[in-house]
Amino acid sequence: MTFSTRQLVDWDRRHVWHPFTQMQDWLAQEPLIIERGEGNYLIDTEGRRYLDGVSSLWCNVHGHRKKELDEALREQCERIAHSTMLGLANVPATVLAKQLADIAPRSLQRVFYSDAGATAVEIALKLALQYWSLRGEEQRTRFVSLTEAYHGDTLGAVGVGYSDTFHHFYRPVLRPSRQIKPPHYFRWVEGQDPDRALRSAIADAEQVLDACGAVTAAIIVEPLMQGAAGMWAQPIGYLPAIEALARRHGTLLICDEVATGFGRTGEMFAVQHENIQPDMLCLGKGITGGYLPLAATLVSEKLFAQFLAPYEEFQAFFHGHTYTGNPLAAAVAVANLELFEREKIIERVQRRAAHLAELAQLHFAPLDHTGDIRQWGLMMGVELVRDRRRRTPYDPAERIGSRIIDEARRHGLVIRPLGNVIILMPPLSIEEVELETLVATTAGAIRTITEGT
Ligand SMILES: Cc1ncc(COP(=O)(O)O)c(C=O)c1O
Repeated sequence: MTFSTRQLVDWDRRHVWHPFTQMQDWLAQEPLIIERGEGNYLIDTEGRRYLDGVSSLWCNVHGHRKKELDEALREQCERIAHSTMLGLANVPATVLAKQLADIAPRSLQRVFYSDAGATAVEIALKLALQYWSLRGEEQRTRFVSLTEAYHGDTLGAVGVGYSDTFHHFYRPVLRPSRQIKPPHYFRWVEGQDPDRALRSAIADAEQVLDACGAVTAAIIVEPLMQGAAGMWAQPIGYLPAIEALARRHGTLLICDEVATGFGRTGEMFAVQHENIQPDMLCLGKGITGGYLPLAATLVSEKLFAQFLAPYEEFQAFFHGHTYTGNPLAAAVAVANLELFEREKIIERVQRRAAHLAELAQLHFAPLDHTGDIRQWGLMMGVELVRDRRRRTPYDPAERIGSRIIDEARRHGLVIRPLGNVIILMPPLSIEEVELETLVATTAGAIRTITEGT
């Protein structure tokens, strides 16, 4: 099956609707069509190579065409591609559940599968609501989440990640959560020093929970790094305070590690930096090494036990998807976890992260328009501002972020901005010299576009 680039461009323009994309802009540009991948590089239909600077939307772990993952997929194809988990179990999903329970915080021993980060969150929210109802605490129907949280795009997930700019269209059917301001908010927006920002964020959470703790089903947080907000980092100390608040108000704690999970922050899971024991953990993206759509909601036994009852009482969790626990995806996920151990990925990330921090100081910090550099492990956001001293943001109409990524692409690098924040989130397999290329090329693109602004 071969198609010319022209043919593909034509079909894409006529038939495809791209996610998170103003299609009017898309249709005015020449699309980049990826045909192959090799290690940390993407290769387009014309054979041009691009360093994958955002790990194919934050999910690729070991690079593209990783031999062990390709083989795991092929081997599973020779057994079975899919069988349902409704009324049946399958081998890879069972093995994976055991392995996830082994590496997760010890509070979490039960795995409910789905196929996207948003569905992992949706499941956690529904489980929380049903849990409280089963316990006779029907008043616990509210959620508390962080300002500018992102938990996915299904309606429940949008409720806890509500942003008026993007979501007012759906407002009539949503119930936005009560929002608490993260430490970043106080540090960046209000210009507080880091210690004071941390204290202000904890005080804000205490105030909100004092007001609505008794009707709160769960607090949901992206631990350590609010990715889609523009890499809003949390300092050590914030998560334990939130965990303590959840306990004090008797509410559940859901940690959404769809982005931070599987090594990105320098531990397998971000909650492990501070030994947090959530009631639920949402996983996706890197769970298959970035190969296939699979997600998991890990749940505590205490919560699970509440759902056990005679059939005729209808207390089961009535939720499932056709491809829940898909054997191909689960087999690749098992191979992914084996690689984490065999290739000592976490130690490697810690080394690379230290190198990335040095490179950022060297290349980004001196730039006139760098306002802030935020990092946890191999997750980095470089916030660009028109005026550094006053922290004046660029006007969205200037499209500073998208112009920079276009410039980077001309130099063989694929990255994606979040507004005026340039995101770097390479595959965990990135080599030292590739990391240097990533940072130097990004800095070059920033300089070219922001000079004279
Ligand atoms: C923290 C977090 N939760 C949930 C999601 C949604 O995941 P998906 O796009 O797989 O639905 C994302 C995606 O970026 C995310 O960063």
